[in-house]
Amino acid sequence: MPSSLLTSAELPEWGQRWLQAPYRSYLYSYPHKTAYRSLEPGLSLQELWEQEQTDYYFLYMHIPFCGARCGFCNLFTLPDRRADVHERYVDALQRQAEQWSPWFAGRPFSRFAIGGGTPTLLVAKQLNRLFDIAEGIMGLDPTQASISVETSPETVTEDRLRVLKDRQTDRVSIGVQSFVTEEAAAIYRPQNPRIAEEALEKLKSYDFPLLNIDLIYGLPGQTADSWLYSLEKALSYEPGEIFIYPLYTRENTILKPDQIHKQGNDIRMDLYHIARQTLEAAGFKQYSMRRFAREIDFTHKEILPFSCQEEGMAGLGCGARSYTRGVHYASHYGVSAATTRSIIADYVTTEAYDKADYGFVLNEVEQKRRFILKALLHREGLELASYHQRFRSDAMADHADLGQLLEIGFAVVEAGVLRLTTLGMAHSDAIGDEMISGDVRTLMEGYEMR
Ligand SMILES: C[S@@+](CC[C@H](N)C(=O)[O-])C[C@H]1O[C@@H](n2cnc3c(N)ncnc32)[C@H](O)[C@@H]1O
Ligand code: SF4
Repeated sequence: MPSSLLTSAELPEWGQRWLQAPYRSYLYSYPHKTAYRSLEPGLSLQELWEQEQTDYYFLYMHIPFCGARCGFCNLFTLPDRRADVHERYVDALQRQAEQWSPWFAGRPFSRFAIGGGTPTLLVAKQLNRLFDIAEGIMGLDPTQASISVETSPETVTEDRLRVLKDRQTDRVSIGVQSFVTEEAAAIYRPQNPRIAEEALEKLKSYDFPLLNIDLIYGLPGQTADSWLYSLEKALSYEPGEIFIYPLYTRENTILKPDQIHKQGNDIRMDLYHIARQTLEAAGFKQYSMRRFAREIDFTHKEILPFSCQEEGMAGLGCGARSYTRGVHYASHYGVSAATTRSIIADYVTTEAYDKADYGFVLNEVEQKRRFILKALLHREGLELASYHQRFRSDAMADHADLGQLLEIGFAVVEAGVLRLTTLGMAHSDAIGDEMISGDVRTLMEGYEMR
């Protein structure tokens, strides 16, 4: 496979930088949470949501608890298995929903997701309550929305799956990461592969319309053969979707960056191409650098349309982000157990959930960058006319870096759509990182991790 239209030596300095450092950061959202700051004075959520007019909305609930913290994870989550702690948390989530629901009356949700942390750490009764809150308080119609829930192997039990099935869950996503005992242990996720296999067998027997399996590549001790073993094992459960994540570590994760991926032994790009070829040969289509899915028959529900821009997203719970066109907001963010615990304690004792006091106000420059990133890093690509329609300006003229992508063979323009090539898709994380604005980068770099 050619590495670029130009040979490495012919590449300009910035092109070499993109090729040499493909794994910089995972921009699952733009702007990143570490660019959020206190909003003073806090913004009235009622006014914010009154101004937000979109056709369909996205309801998200965050459950910030896990059995233990994995060595690579910097998500907003706390290792806490206590049922009374979970119950008080769901009580708070219900109070928050009661306060928010008037703003969403008459606004249809086309998506509902429960994520974490590990939502299925909650017992079946509390899980059921989450659906009651979504339907009875927020007005979700489960027959019209796609419903997705995250789970982990040791929390997959019959009574919980029964709840998910009865409440019309369409997609269940399970984090397996690796089917090899030593690899799981190396990332402080002591997971017996047998437990993961049993969980998958149970999930299969409930026949959810879409099963997703998360796997990670670049684990300590992982080889091309052991990665292929995990991929094939995952394929043997015939999931409709597989997410493959390159391993990232940070200074604030238990596993430190200098413990792995030392120069010369980083095989993540090789493992990525092995996965891409294996999954495509198994009938999967690539939708992004991480997401591969089969074409599945989704006719069991008439789901309302939704846009990949994810605006109009109402995030309930501590650690959930909410997105309107002009403002992204959340509770404060932390990773250490002490900080996470105190942020959750504040959330649970708060009486009023009516202000956005921590977040990011997107000016037009940032809205444009977000729009581009949300489209470009996916198979669909960036429709240049839809950018023009929204911003009344030309995407290529606004962003010189898009022209650079064409120059080095990372993207092409076909029928008015700027789309990543195979090579560009493999470097999505470098492209995403490069597109971060100077202002957002300064905020991210100035963020003090707690
Ligand atoms: C919320 S978790 C999934 C559910 C559940 N908590 C679990 O771990 O089984 C989302 C997924 O992101 C991926 N992930 C999170 N942090 C990562 C990191 N630092 N490097 C690579 N993948 C990561 C993992 O594959 C994980 O399954
Ligand atoms: S990877 Fe999943 S189970 Fe592990 S700490 Fe993060 S959210 Fe929890």
